[in-house]
Amino acid sequence: MEHNSVIEQMRQLIQLIAKHNHAYYVMDQPSISDSEYDHLFHQLKALEQQHPECIQADTPTNKVGGQALSKFESVTHAVPMLSLGNVFNQEDLFAFARRIDERLPNQKVQYDVELKLDGLAISLWYENGVLVRGVTRGDGETGEDITQNVKTIRNLPKVLASQHQAIPDFLEVRGEVLMPKQGFEKLNTDQEAKGEKTFANPRNAAAGSLRQLDPNIAASRPLAFYAYGIAQCQPNHGLETMHDSLHWLTKFGFEIAERQFLCASIEEVQQRYEQIQQERPDLKVEIDGMVIKVDSLKQQQQLGFLSREPRWATAYKFPAQAALTKVENIDWQVGRTGTLGVTMNSSVSSRTQLDFQMAV
Ligand code: IVH
Repeated sequence: MEHNSVIEQMRQLIQLIAKHNHAYYVMDQPSISDSEYDHLFHQLKALEQQHPECIQADTPTNKVGGQALSKFESVTHAVPMLSLGNVFNQEDLFAFARRIDERLPNQKVQYDVELKLDGLAISLWYENGVLVRGVTRGDGETGEDITQNVKTIRNLPKVLASQHQAIPDFLEVRGEVLMPKQGFEKLNTDQEAKGEKTFANPRNAAAGSLRQLDPNIAASRPLAFYAYGIAQCQPNHGLETMHDSLHWLTKFGFEIAERQFLCASIEEVQQRYEQIQQERPDLKVEIDGMVIKVDSLKQQQQLGFLSREPRWATAYKFPAQAALTKVENIDWQVGRTGTLGVTMNSSVSSRTQLDFQMAV
């Protein structure tokens, strides 16, 4: 068979398998039977055995089966992964906008409003369009190399593909790894059935899955990646706004969160916040608020950073979610110096994580 048609056939199989993986793991709606899936997989493997010179970098056949690592290597981030300041109410939000207006006199400011995804931040490096490294946020300066695990995330492009856009020589994409709610429920049901430990919430499940030294475990978990920023791009992409950068990423196969808004005023940001709070239960993923970013990349540069937080972005947190809890027992201990200690055991009826704040 001719070289090009082998590659063409491999690409078709890879795409088909990726589509069925997405239906199975992310949507939880299998689109073909297990045996049909196995058949596609074996067809691809057979082709690869006959034509090893044509093996595609993003083939799912070498996704798993990698050796378990003994530990993760440390990697220093070329561009630090910073944190965000917080606002909790309309008053704080408007004060955030006032500080921006004071620094950008007579400039119109638009806001890019995104979901604050409740997962784990990671950074992905693509060299000539091929995923070469995935790193956790760590302390923001140094993270851990989790490339093996990241390569098992099904909705994440292992090779950048675009019909209309040139592939950058180097691209570093930032985003969040999450376990969508449906996949999380299914994982817990499966774990329970196997008599294995269940996870308290999707965030813990995602964190636990990424921390596995054996990539086969991460591969069996329904993880998803949503992009929310570009740390480096060579040559420069030439885009001018946050909004455009995220849509540019989708053209290469990245998924972005299911809601994103461009707001012309801070009042509109407040409206979107209220809207999302209503829609929160219907979303596919867990969120803990919104992230408000100045949309213009030039204005972002003008605003810069204050210590380790950007002045051009903030997190607008939702009030802690209420959940029913049954207090099972309370233990009091009087310390040597007369301080009172309290331990409370409770069962949480929903799997929502609770923050207990107890003042004694
Ligand atoms: S942008 C310099 N966008 O929030 C700004 N972060 O407190 C960098 N997060 O660790 C972050 N959703 O994991 C950004 N749409 C979003 C986000 C988001 C969730 C997390 C991120 C980071 C934390 C910052």
